[in-house]
Amino acid sequence: MEFSYSDKVLGMRPSIIRELLKQMSDPALISFAGGNPAADSFPVADIRAFSDTLLESDPVGMLQYSVTEGYGPLREACRAFANRQWPVVKESDELIITSGSQQVIEFMAKLLCNEGDVVAVEEPAFLGAYNSMRSFGAELRGVPLEPDGVNLEALEAAFAAQPKPKFFYCIPNFQNPTGYTTSKEKRKAIYELAVKYGVPVLEDDPYGALRISGEDVPPIKHFDECGAVVYAGSFSKILCPGMRLAYCAGQGDFITKMVTAKQGSDVHTNVWAQRVCERMLTQTDMNAHIARLQAIYREKANYMMEKLDEKLSGAVSYVRPEGGMFIWAKLPDEVPVGEFARRCLEKKLAVVPGSAFYTDSAVEQPFVRLNFSTPTKEQIDRGVAVMAEVLAEMTK
Ligand SMILES: Cc1ncc(COP(=O)(O)O)c(C=O)c1O
Repeated sequence: MEFSYSDKVLGMRPSIIRELLKQMSDPALISFAGGNPAADSFPVADIRAFSDTLLESDPVGMLQYSVTEGYGPLREACRAFANRQWPVVKESDELIITSGSQQVIEFMAKLLCNEGDVVAVEEPAFLGAYNSMRSFGAELRGVPLEPDGVNLEALEAAFAAQPKPKFFYCIPNFQNPTGYTTSKEKRKAIYELAVKYGVPVLEDDPYGALRISGEDVPPIKHFDECGAVVYAGSFSKILCPGMRLAYCAGQGDFITKMVTAKQGSDVHTNVWAQRVCERMLTQTDMNAHIARLQAIYREKANYMMEKLDEKLSGAVSYVRPEGGMFIWAKLPDEVPVGEFARRCLEKKLAVVPGSAFYTDSAVEQPFVRLNFSTPTKEQIDRGVAVMAEVLAEMTK
């Protein structure tokens, strides 16, 4: 039967990265294209032990329907976790457990956007966020991102322009795809502009714990005194993405609306995963676990940067990321990036062309996003060698 799809669905674009990853069944293929956590980063033994213990002691609590806001003790543990360095989630804020931070982005768009409304977004930024906002009819107003955060003049212009954006989306820590970190000064300025123009901020922070160098910077939410900021934290990159666990903190009326949206979406986040996560947060040494993750990613990132400097200095430039999972590499201006990515794929290396992360993905950008969290050192060696070979061919 031919289904008659809605305009919204017809406007959806499949993620280029997910499409690319589908073609990656070839075991010889090296991927710098993904964004998964390192396979050896998952705390498997603890997850298994807590799951077994809880199923034994409280099978019904683990397996029964539960409340939409999320398991109470986990919500408390998330507050404590988010506030471990600075006050982020205030007493006056409410907090909901969500099925990944992707769901926070989806609900933000669903709750605030009518067809044709504008959302101001860092550009480039996480493709999954752009797609989710677009699926609710939002039009994206890109604000150029610089190595220390968005360009503030452009942000002010985006806030002042009509129609006024319904919200501003940003990823201040180790941004996807650039790896850039927004400075403390710019975080304060973003908050002040948000208040001045009455534009709420969605602060998406899945990578914040994965710092590999430099000093921690307080989240924008830390400066929030009037409920302007909605903060999304995720356990995907610090425990495992398969659990689909994240949390969202914001002013009470907004979180109440989110609860209503969630009731009609998935009723509640997987209780089993929530119960295990609560034990992880309260009964294991999360600081030690995070330090282990940081060590894994520091080693991989430093290795990839060492190889890029050794094999591609002069040809490829990048800002050293202080954390996260990505290096945003700029290719020589004369190199068409789509063709570069295609030739790399022929030599069994997958990289994502930078244009995928822009509001208009049809315009080529001189960047590729390189992921360092999943490849092994041998794969990094080989992958960077392929990039050097292809660049040499293309710049002869
Ligand atoms: C910036 C950003 N936000 C949100 C997500 C979605 O993460 P989650 O697994 O918490 O839904 C990702 C996933 O890669 C991401 O890079």
